[in-house]
Amino acid sequence: MDAQSYIKGLEDEILHHEAVHHPFLKRFASESLSLEQIRTFGLQHYQLVRIFVNYMTNLLPLIPDKEAADLFRTVFDDEFGQHTIFRSHPALYRNFLKGLGLPEEAWGRVAFLPETTLYIEAHKKLTRDEDFLIGLGAVGPAHEFAIPTMFEYLISGFKNNTDLSDEVMEYFDFHIVQDKEHAVVFNQLIIRHIETPESQKLLREGAMRCLAFRKAFWDGLYRAVFGESL
Ligand SMILES: [Fe+2]
Ligand SMILES: [Fe+2]
Repeated sequence: MDAQSYIKGLEDEILHHEAVHHPFLKRFASESLSLEQIRTFGLQHYQLVRIFVNYMTNLLPLIPDKEAADLFRTVFDDEFGQHTIFRSHPALYRNFLKGLGLPEEAWGRVAFLPETTLYIEAHKKLTRDEDFLIGLGAVGPAHEFAIPTMFEYLISGFKNNTDLSDEVMEYFDFHIVQDKEHAVVFNQLIIRHIETPESQKLLREGAMRCLAFRKAFWDGLYRAVFGESL
């Protein structure tokens, strides 16, 4: 299969993956939520957000492509906040946590769910110790491409249960748009390296391994936020 069609097929598969439409996301979008439940979600999710850029810095030197750094640059610029660290994505997420009334020490002190730790450790390995195509599958299609779909559920939950300002919601609102653009950037890079069935298989493997950890992360949040196991 040609590279372009392969990516399209993989994106279709991801759009229908159970991690992207997890029961946690469905309940979060549709049920009445207390501030405490939303805080519980935010404090765990922040831990994933604050480390995301490390996966990209792990991966970049593994990619045998002189243009990878240039292609990554636009994504790095967005993640790091262009001209000011106050607009880095973790900083914008902290605005959201502050909007939920959480004090600064809350996100440093929170106990990680086992699934949160597992997610982070697994992604460090996926982007550092594996074939670069596995890392690209995890960070490109399974993160950048999948995130807008998952965030739609989360944003519904915030809108239904809080009156957070647009400013406080900025992290979520703009990822709906920005991660679609980031996915296109990743695909420009990926497409140059998946001409063979073996390379296509590696890319998909990375994406599916990432989504399995994402599913486990939502399983953990289901338990932490709704007080019951799936
Ligand atoms: Fe981001
Ligand atoms: Fe992104």
